[in-house]
Amino acid sequence: MEYQTPQFFHLMDYADRAEGDVIDMVSGNPDWEPPAALREGLREYADRDVDELQYAPSDGLLDLREEIGARRNVDPDRVVVTNGAGEANYLGMARALERGAGDEVILADPVYSYYPGKTQMLGGTERYVPVGPDGTLDPAAVREAANENTACIVVNTPKNPTGGVLDADQMEGLVAVAEDYDAVLVSDETYDHFDYSGRFASALSVDSEHRIVTSSFSKSMAITGVRVGYAVVPESLFDLVHSRHMLTNVAINRQGQYAVLKALRETGPEYYEESRELLQERIAAFTDALDRAGAEYTDPDGAFYVMAKFEDFPGTMENSKRLIDEAGVAGMPGEAFGEARADWHRFAIVTPRAVEAADRLAEYFG
Ligand SMILES: Cc1ncc(COP(=O)(O)O)c(C=O)c1O
Repeated sequence: MEYQTPQFFHLMDYADRAEGDVIDMVSGNPDWEPPAALREGLREYADRDVDELQYAPSDGLLDLREEIGARRNVDPDRVVVTNGAGEANYLGMARALERGAGDEVILADPVYSYYPGKTQMLGGTERYVPVGPDGTLDPAAVREAANENTACIVVNTPKNPTGGVLDADQMEGLVAVAEDYDAVLVSDETYDHFDYSGRFASALSVDSEHRIVTSSFSKSMAITGVRVGYAVVPESLFDLVHSRHMLTNVAINRQGQYAVLKALRETGPEYYEESRELLQERIAAFTDALDRAGAEYTDPDGAFYVMAKFEDFPGTMENSKRLIDEAGVAGMPGEAFGEARADWHRFAIVTPRAVEAADRLAEYFG
C-alpha cells in the first residue's frame, strides 16, 4: 500500500506557506496545558535508574493497567497499553478481520479518515452507513447494513467530526448487532472526557465478547505527542491482540506511561472540567459568529470540532485552500470525511483564536 500523506498534513503545510496570517483549525492538537503532574512525571523519569530505562512489559506497566482497570471498571488483564488510540484501533480492527468471520468493516459516514486506511491495509472492505441527524450511527441503520460478511463495526463516541454522542440504548443496540452478526464492535472513545450532553455511554457498559474499547490520554491530558493509549479487549480476543501489539512495538515508552499514571493519580476532576468549560465557551463563541456568517453548523454534543456549511461553498480541498488564502482560516474539507458531509467544512476548536477565526469567516461570507 502506497504511503499517502494525510490530508490534514497537506493543508497544514499549505497554510504554513500561505502569505498572510492563517489561523490553524485543521489539526486536533489541544492547545491547553497538560496536568501539572504529567510534566513532573516526564521530568522525574529522566533521572530514574538505568534498569527503568529498559523495556516495559509489552502489555504496559502493571500499575498503569490497574489504574485504567479501576477507572473503567474492568479487569486489568483485559487492558493493553498502546501507542495511542491509533494503534488500539488498528489492533481491534485487525483482530476482528482475522477471525475468518467476514471481511467487511462498517464505518460511519462522515468517518474519521484513518479508519478507511486501516481497513484497506488489513485487507478489509469498507461499508459506509451515513450518520443520523444527531451525528451518530443509528443502530437500526447499522443492522440494515450488516450481513454475514460483516467482520467489524467501528464507532467513535464522542464523534470526530460530527460531535455526536452515543447514549446507553444506542450503544446496547450496536453491541447487539455485532453479536447477532458474529462481528466485533470497535468503540473508539478517544474523546470520552469531552461529553457536553451527559449522555455518553461507553461500550464497556455492555458486557460482551464482541466489543473492544479503545481510548487514550492524547486529548484528555492534551498530550497527543506522548503517545499513550489503550485497548480493553475481551478474554476470547485478547491473546492475538497482545501478540500483534508485542510483535509490532515490543513495548510502549516507559516515561510516557509513568507520567500518565502519575497524572491519573494526582489530577482531580476539575482539570477535565476546566478543559470542557474552555471548549464549550469557545464553541459557543465560534457558533455565534457562524450565525453572523449565515452558515449552517453543528452544535457538538462532544469532542471539539464544529462543522459548518456555507452557501455555494462545498467542502472541497480547493475551497479549503481558498479559505486559507482569502479568509486566513484553515479548516478541513468535509469531503475528506466521506460523502455525507461533503458540503461542509470542519473546524477544530483547539486554538485560542477560534473567535477571531469565526469573525474572519463572518466577514468573508457575511
Ligand atoms: C477519532 C479519533 N481516534 C483516534 C485518534 C488518534 O488518537 P491517539 O493520539 O490516541 O492515537 C484521533 C485523533 O485525532 C481521533 O480523532
